[in-house]
Amino acid sequence: MKLAVIGSGYVGLVTGACFASLGHEVVCVDNDPQKISTLKAGKVFFYEPGLHEIITKTVATGHLSFTTEIAEVVNRCEVLFICVNTPSLPDGGADLSSVENVTRVVAKHLRKYCLIVAKSTVPVQTGEWIRKTLQRYARKGVKFDVASNPEFLREGSAIHDFMMPDRIVIGVDTTRAEKIFRELYASMKAPLIVTDIKSAELIKHASNSFLATKISFANGLSRICDAVGADVEKVTLGMGLDPRIGSQFLHAGIGFGGACFPKDLKAFLHISNELGVSFDLLAEVIRINETQAQYFVQKIIRNMRSLKGKTIGVLGLAFKGDTDDMRNAPSLAIIPELQKAGAQIKAYDPQAMPGSRTLFRNLCFAPDLYSAVKDAHAIVLLTEWKKFQNMDCRRVRKLMKGKFFFDGRNMFPPPEMKRLGFHYVSIGRPSA
Ligand SMILES: NC(=O)c1ccc[n+]([C@@H]2O[C@H](COP(=O)([O-])OP(=O)(O)OC[C@H]3O[C@@H](n4cnc5c(N)ncnc54)[C@H](O)[C@@H]3O)[C@@H](O)[C@H]2O)c1
Repeated sequence: MKLAVIGSGYVGLVTGACFASLGHEVVCVDNDPQKISTLKAGKVFFYEPGLHEIITKTVATGHLSFTTEIAEVVNRCEVLFICVNTPSLPDGGADLSSVENVTRVVAKHLRKYCLIVAKSTVPVQTGEWIRKTLQRYARKGVKFDVASNPEFLREGSAIHDFMMPDRIVIGVDTTRAEKIFRELYASMKAPLIVTDIKSAELIKHASNSFLATKISFANGLSRICDAVGADVEKVTLGMGLDPRIGSQFLHAGIGFGGACFPKDLKAFLHISNELGVSFDLLAEVIRINETQAQYFVQKIIRNMRSLKGKTIGVLGLAFKGDTDDMRNAPSLAIIPELQKAGAQIKAYDPQAMPGSRTLFRNLCFAPDLYSAVKDAHAIVLLTEWKKFQNMDCRRVRKLMKGKFFFDGRNMFPPPEMKRLGFHYVSIGRPSA
C-alpha cells in the first residue's frame, strides 16, 4: 500500500519505518526542514533502539523516503496518517493547531479518495472536527474517510510495540475504511478492535489515564509506607499478583514524565470538564504526580541536613530508560531544587546529555557514570537505565566522598546497599 505519515517524530518515524519494513511504500513528511535533511543524510535525530537500522534498510530498498511537502504526497497515498504533536495548552486542553494545519493543507490538495487517519493522541470528537474541516476546505465532490488509529507504542521499545502490539484499535464509520485497515494490518497477529471513531479516541485517553492512575496510586501508597516503615515494593507485589490488579505500572518512584501521560491526563480532564462531566479522580492523579518530585527532594534534604557546598552525582536525566526524551522528565523539577538548596550537580545519562545542555543551568556533565559519582557526597538516581542497574556499586562507593545514595527508582535492595556502606534511601521502603 502507498502510505503517507505526516509528522516524523517519535511516533511518525517509527510508524513509517515499520510499515515500510512490512513492504509498504511510505513517505514520511515533516515541516521541520532540519529533521528531514538529517533523515535524508541517513541519521536519526533522537535515540530509539533499533530505529536507525530499520530506516537504513527500508530507505535502501526504496520503501521509505522523506519530504517536507504534504502537497507532494496527498494524492499519491491511499492512507495518510497524522502523527503530529498535540501538546498541552496553558488551560490543560490539547493544542490541536498542528492537526488543524495538516488537515487544511491536506484538504487544499486532495483530489482523489484517501483514508485520513488520526494517529496522534487527540480528545474525543476530534475526528468529527477533522471531517468538518476537510468538508469545508476540500474541493466539492472529493471523497475521503476519516478514522482514528491511536498508537500505544512506548519509547525505548517502540519498534517491538509497533510490530507486536497487544491490540490494534481502529475507529471507523465506513466499511471501506475498515477494509483498508484490515488489509494494512493483515500481517500483525494482534486483536483488532473495531469501533466508532469517538470510542477509539476515548480508548487512548482512558488507557493512558488508567496507567498513570496506577503509578500515582503506588506513589500515594509509598508515602503511607514511609510514614509507618512498611515496604511499598512488598505491598505492590502482594497486590499485583491478583490478576484483577496486575503488577505492571504499580511501582513507586519519582512520578511519571514524558510527552504523553502528563499532557494526556490534562487533556482528558479538560474535555471531561468541557462536557460537563466531573472526573476529579484525574485531578488527584495529576496532583500526586506533580508533588512526588518535591517529596523526593525533601527526603534528600532531610537526610543530608544541608546541601550547601555538597556535590551530588545525578544518574539519569531522561524521563525513563532507553530513551533520550527529556519532555516532562522528573530531572527537570528535581535538579533545580537541589541546586537551589546549594548543591553542585554532576550529571550523567547514557543518551540524554546532548539534548539536556540547554535545559539546565550550571550543570556539569560527566563523560561516564563513574566520573559522575567520583568525589560526590551523594548520588541521586533518577532514571532506570540498565547500565545503572548493572553498575559496580562497590567501585561507586569507593569513588565517593560521602555515602548517601538516593534512589528515585527503587532499583537496588536496601540491605545489600547498606552492606556496601551506603546510607541508602529510596521511595516507600525502610532504609535497611
Ligand atoms: N511519544 C510517544 O511515546 C507516543 C506514544 C503514543 C502516542 N503519541 C502521540 O503521538 C503524537 C506525536 O507524538 P510524538 O512523540 O511523535 O511527537 P514529536 O514531537 O516527536 O513529533 C511530532 C512531529 O510532527 C511535526 N509536525 C508538527 N506540525 C507539523 C505540520 N504541520 N506538518 C508536518 N509536520 C509537523 C514536528 O516537527 C515533529 O517532528 C502525539 O499526539 C502523542 O501524544 C506519542
